[in-house]
Amino acid sequence: MDSVMDIPHDQLGRTICDLRISVTDRCNFRCTYCMPQEVFNADYRFMARAELLSFEEIARVVSLFAGLGVRKVRLTGGEPLIRHHLEVLIAKIAGLGAACASATTPVATATPGITDISLTTNGALLTAAKARALKDAGLRRLTVSLDALDNEVFSRLNGVAFPVDRVLQGIDNARAAGFAPVKINMVVRKGVNDAQVLPMARHFRNSGCILRFIEYMDVGHSNAWKMDDVAPTAQLINTIHREFPIEPADPNYKGEVARRWRYQDGAGEIGFISSVTQPFCGDCTRIRMSADGRLYTCLFATEGHDLRRLLRERHSDEYLTNWLRDLWQAREDRYSETRSERTVALEKVEMSYIGG
Ligand code: GTP
Ligand code: 5AD
Ligand code: SF4
Ligand code: SF4
Repeated sequence: MDSVMDIPHDQLGRTICDLRISVTDRCNFRCTYCMPQEVFNADYRFMARAELLSFEEIARVVSLFAGLGVRKVRLTGGEPLIRHHLEVLIAKIAGLGAACASATTPVATATPGITDISLTTNGALLTAAKARALKDAGLRRLTVSLDALDNEVFSRLNGVAFPVDRVLQGIDNARAAGFAPVKINMVVRKGVNDAQVLPMARHFRNSGCILRFIEYMDVGHSNAWKMDDVAPTAQLINTIHREFPIEPADPNYKGEVARRWRYQDGAGEIGFISSVTQPFCGDCTRIRMSADGRLYTCLFATEGHDLRRLLRERHSDEYLTNWLRDLWQAREDRYSETRSERTVALEKVEMSYIGG
């Protein structure tokens, strides 16, 4: 059917599979590398309520993208759980998938809908009740960011002295609600938290969680990134392998961001996200939307595309779909493959604005 023909390809032949949606630019943490206190203080102008896309608007965007091939949706922030009643949005998005999956009309079959909804959170607001509500609403997978196990190191890193035990409790709550496995994201910075790599590995072995080590990236322009700050994946693999022997595992799917490894003694799986030393732009099928409805075709973009204005001008689905298709077809981003001193200095969009 022509629906398959209509799936757009960008200038490098990549389709569009994942939509990452930031639902708020606010966060209850002030991680030094993401929202440093000096910049994100009382004078910082966060988005006003009216600037945010409503849940209805977000759900409409998701259904438009589903028609263009998107199957995975990830909710991010800032901290997404700051947005009240997030489970209501999840249920709406999950409903799109369910409605399409159960429908029998040719049109619905051509748009099978969203098959995967995931969330990245710092875990601070992940109470037992919230975790259950998210699960019941249709959230399939959950990732918690955690950069250290030592309470002093973690308190310093998150900028608000948030205790590590409460994040660990959030992870337990997620597991109790039935999320399995929970993924744990650790951004590793040389000389800052690289001494936490082994304690974190030890803690999450045999836990049913998948710990992923992320190379520190030059996203945004307020974290004063330097190449010297990066703890390269190859070194981390050696460090871990010496203590707990590991071996590579096959990717779960083409274009998977994390390289998978497993403990040889059967204690589970870990991952490495190495966008600096081993870029993965060639398979990048991701598009991102900020909470105020701007679209970004790369995590390192300097400019967004204002979808909110079009949504609020009440254009038809067909008009918007064509606009989105044109946007994707023009895409030629491959930032991580072309990183240089010049690009590091560009005024890129902040991670807290665009999500991870
Ligand atoms: P799943 O495989 O669907 O579980 O998700 P994922 O591995 O993409 O994980 P997640 O969404 O948690 O992303 C983890 C981290 O990888 C992000 O926080 C970013 O630091 C990094 N990352 C994800 N997507 C990209 C990307 O497109 N480009 C770059 N450079 N980094 C990315
Ligand atoms: N480099 C790599 N990862 C980052 N994150 C935030 N800023 C950076 C950065 N500069 C990660 C967070 C979280 C996710 C949303 O993105 O730690 O896991
Ligand atoms: Fe908040 Fe995540 Fe940024 Fe930390 S990394 S300030 S938790 S959005
Ligand atoms: Fe995709 Fe840009 Fe990341 Fe490359 S740098 S993987 S193009 S988001």
